[in-house]
Parts: sequence; structure tokens; C-alpha cells
Amino acid sequence: MANPLRPALLAAARSARAERSITRMPVTRRIVDRFVAGDSRDAALAAVRDLVRRNRFVTIDYLGEDTHDPAQAERVAGEYLRLIGELAQLPLEVGERGPRPLEVSVKLSALGQALPDDGHAVALRNARTIAESAAAAGIWMTVDAEDHTTTESTHAIVRELRREHPETVGTVLQAYLRRTEADCRAFAAEGARIRLCKGAYSEPESVAFRRKREVDESYLRCLRILMRGSGYPMVATHDPAMIEAAALLATAVPRGGTDFEFQMLYGIRPAEQERLIGLGQHLRVYVPFGDQWYGYFVRRLAERPANLMFFLRAAAPE
Ligand code: FDA
Repeated sequence: MANPLRPALLAAARSARAERSITRMPVTRRIVDRFVAGDSRDAALAAVRDLVRRNRFVTIDYLGEDTHDPAQAERVAGEYLRLIGELAQLPLEVGERGPRPLEVSVKLSALGQALPDDGHAVALRNARTIAESAAAAGIWMTVDAEDHTTTESTHAIVRELRREHPETVGTVLQAYLRRTEADCRAFAAEGARIRLCKGAYSEPESVAFRRKREVDESYLRCLRILMRGSGYPMVATHDPAMIEAAALLATAVPRGGTDFEFQMLYGIRPAEQERLIGLGQHLRVYVPFGDQWYGYFVRRLAERPANLMFFLRAAAPE
């Protein structure tokens, strides 16, 4: 079922006033903990160790977005460098080829993309530092997709980074954007590693499909292109219909069960994660951490009425 409150919640995800109210509610923290691995790098690393022990791949996101301060953007980049340094110490058996079990996910808006005048250049500079460090450590780096006003700049930065680190840098495409089918064709032809998701922001009809059926149809068209392409598809969804379609497509193409991977968010559908691993599929968990969890958390509430109801029930007075 589509969430009728989705537009209001996505607006709240960007509202400082709503942020003040929601983050001050005593109950919020307990529910945030279902979706966020903790405030600190140590908490995230503990979650990562546990997931890796249970045969999951991981991608780690240091939460934060929409930075309007160059010093803050550098601090975010610094936190990623420290994270990569610690991830590189984890005892893991990693083959020369094939998917990397460890990945970091970065949001360019946290690295300065929204700064006036030179935001694109600042984000590129910070992202390049992270990409270099990740490549040296044999860790993948994936550039997250944010709202559509950032897409052109994000793809330009991704292409620049992929020229320097074609094996380790990948990005995210959002099936709800009308442009994405063409983007899938271009990136698939370049052999890129692409995470396909439905899209989590509030977008106008002019650039995005808004009805669930249209978004799902677009997702399936994009999936077909990526599966037939020469890159590495990362199927990021909790939707049983999309998961089944991906498995069928991979068999039909044919693409081996380990020539693509499924991805899910931390705390969501753990039983389905276990089932896919039991089938011998690669499954990567997106692990967010940090104290700037507000926007991420509210987007999760917007996605699913059940998440929202759980929050509202917990928040209601006895
Ligand atoms: P959707 O929300 O359409 O739900 C379809 C069905 O899936 C439901 O009816 C239900 O059956 C099942 N389902 C969904 N959530 C469930 C739950 N919590 N519990 C049980 N069943 C559930 N977005 C973005 O814009 N930029 C990005 O960079 C990323 N990155 C990203 C990484 C990863 C690893 C994932 C999994 C997702 C993202 N997203 C994202 C978020 C993405 O765009 C999207 O908002 C969510 O994944 C929700 O869409 P679904 O495909 O899961 O299905």
C-alpha cells in the first residue's frame, strides 16, 4: 500500500522545525535504533563485524546531508578516511577478483555539493580523497543518489572518479526518475557498478514517476538493462516482486548468482536477507551511523505505513 502521508513526511525530512520536535521526543531514539547502527564509528564497526560474521556484505554510510559549511564537508570526508582505515584492519578473506565485502556509501551533499559557487568542485575534491583511500584499501565506494537537482553534478563527479578508480567506484540510480532508463543504458555500457533503487525523495511529476505501478515498471525496465549490461548490478529493494524478478532475469540473461547482488537497509527484512544468503546469493546491508540521523530516519517512516504506525503507537501517550 502506498503511504498517503509520504509527501508530508518527505517535507518534514527537510524541515528544521519538524527535526527539533521529532528528535526531542523521548521515544524516537528507541525506534531510530532499529534503522541506525549507532552514533559512533565504534558502534558501526561492531554492527559491521556482526553482519560480516553472518555472511553479509556491508556498505557503511556516515549520516549527514545538505552541508552548507566547507569545514563540515571536510570533517565528513575525514570521518570517512578514519572509517576506511579501521575497515581495512578487519580480518577478512578477500579474493583478487569479485565483489568486495566492504563498501562505503557517500552522499555528495554531505561533502559540500550544495555550497554556493564552488559546491561541485568542493564535493569532487572531498569525494576524490575518499575514493583514493578506499581504492588503496581494496574497499568499494558508492555515491548515493539524492534529489533530482543534484543528479547532473553527481553523475559528472562519478564519471570523473570512475576514470581514476574504475574498479572500485560505483553509483546509485533511482528508478522513479524518468531519465534513469537512459542513465542505466549509459552506465551499463560503461561496465559500471550500479545500485538500482526506487528512489526516496519527494520529486515533481515533471521529472519522476509518482504512481507505485509506474515506478515498479520503470524498476523492472532498468533491471533488465543492467542485468544485460557489462557492469555489476546491485539490486537495492525490499520488494518481493522486484527480488523475484531480479532472480529470474539473472537466470535468463544468464548471469551467475554471484555476478550481481541484492542490497537491503539495516534493520529491514532480516528474514528475507537470511533466505537470500541461504540460496547462495550475495546480500549487502546498508549500515548508516552517526548522530545526523534525522533525514534518513524520516525517509524510512515515509516509505512504509507500518514503520510510521510503529512510531506513532510508541509515541502515543498511554
Ligand atoms: P517499496 O517501498 O516500494 O515497498 C514494496 C514492498 O516491499 C512492500 O509492499 C513490502 O512488501 C516490501 N517492503 C518494503 N519495505 C519493507 C519493510 N520495511 N518490511 C517489510 N517489507 C517491506 N534511495 C535513494 O533515493 N537514494 C539512495 O542512494 C538510496 N540508497 C539505498 C540503498 C539501499 C541498500 C536500499 C535498500 C535502498 C536505498 N534507497 C535509496 C531507498 C530506496 O530508494 C527506497 O526508498 C526504499 O528501498 C523502499 O523501496 P523498496 O524497493 O524497498 O520497496
